[in-house]
Amino acid sequence: MTIIKSVYGRRVWDSRGNPTVEVDVILEDGTLGRAIAPAGASRGAREAMDLRDGGSKLRGMDVQQALRSVNEIIAPALVGRDVLDQTGADAAIIALDPSALKDQLGGNATVATSLAVLHAASAAVKKPLWQHIAEIYGRMPSIPLPEIQIFGGGAHAGRRVDIQDFMIMVPGANSFDEVMEITNEVYFAAGDIMAQKGRLAGVADEGGWWPIFDSNEEALETLVAAIEKAGEKPGERVVISLDIAASEFGKNGNYRLALEDRNMDSGALIDMLGGWLDAYPIASIEDPVGEDDPAGMIEFTRRFGKRVQIIGDDYLVTNKTLVENAAQEGACNAVLIKVNQVGTISESIDAFLAAEKAGFGSVVSARSGETEDVTISHLATGLGGGQLKVGSFTRSERMAKWNECLRIQDVLGKSAFVGGAPLANTWWGRKTYGDKK
Ligand code: PGA
Ligand code: ZN
Repeated sequence: MTIIKSVYGRRVWDSRGNPTVEVDVILEDGTLGRAIAPAGASRGAREAMDLRDGGSKLRGMDVQQALRSVNEIIAPALVGRDVLDQTGADAAIIALDPSALKDQLGGNATVATSLAVLHAASAAVKKPLWQHIAEIYGRMPSIPLPEIQIFGGGAHAGRRVDIQDFMIMVPGANSFDEVMEITNEVYFAAGDIMAQKGRLAGVADEGGWWPIFDSNEEALETLVAAIEKAGEKPGERVVISLDIAASEFGKNGNYRLALEDRNMDSGALIDMLGGWLDAYPIASIEDPVGEDDPAGMIEFTRRFGKRVQIIGDDYLVTNKTLVENAAQEGACNAVLIKVNQVGTISESIDAFLAAEKAGFGSVVSARSGETEDVTISHLATGLGGGQLKVGSFTRSERMAKWNECLRIQDVLGKSAFVGGAPLANTWWGRKTYGDKK
């Protein structure tokens, strides 16, 4: 009874109020699998394209064409297939649109369908999604270490500051539950500091505080102050993680920090970030240079790759080949896994496995436009990949993912929390940060 009877796409709405694609996969016995496509704002140039209708209606963001892809093109190819054959379903989707960016069907159509098939399969075998993922890909499940945003920035905050994500990680926590508690304290300590300065002005797209700062580095200083105000010693249980998202403020190795009215070349940006790595307890940094600056990424990795996690997001776009090339060239030492960057779960697993083979870390990640869909909590757990990036500690599309991890923790047990293991090869794992100071 695991035969797909129908595949149906409908329009729903994401956390920014934009239309997006939800897909229901229904099996012959009535079993339902459902998933919703998320949407990025700071998108990589090489990632799968969302199909949007354009024009003036709904600011050009409607998804009627993507829904037609699901209902008229993909559905006939999947109906009658065995839902347990995820690889076959994804191959059928890819065969309908072999273009590099999936711009014929739309990445929003393919990702929602691929993940709905995965959900339907897990419902068919009556197992939680994380367990189904672990079983079909032969993985040891574990509860991930979160990266949680305290201040938003970049494209998620009207470019009020240039740097996109000022986050914390709590590798010193003993359980996922404890991460949530410590994050609550740091998040509200940061809000209190902003309020004291008369700079509390709501939240950015992913729920982090709106970043009213005079410089990008002031955000970092404030984050350290918030960790201290929460009663923690920065660099011990709690460390800092940054997403520079440098492709958003640089082209061809030339960067511009608009907030500070500063232009810099790749070398100057790398020097500036290196200074931050010395001055602040940063354990992880994402897209420190632009997606079109491989020389910069190789240089950054050569200089700092032994003491900090260097994640490729726009730089690697969940693409197996780009991960393999980066590993060969010595660029990055970790990959961000966003299923909608590549368009199917099977291709995301390929990128994840290529990263693991190269000795890279991995972080399963949400997009800045999200919904109540909690697939990524299960994906991070089921793959045992070790880390999960969802955004901040407010807004229900974010909290839904953290809360799902708590439910999974109740089944897997607190000992399944990976803690600081993913950062073991950074200065945090070797405890050299304090020595250096
Ligand atoms: P995006 O940002 O979803 O807007 O692309 C998330 C990220 O850069 O990690
Ligand atoms: Zn990013």
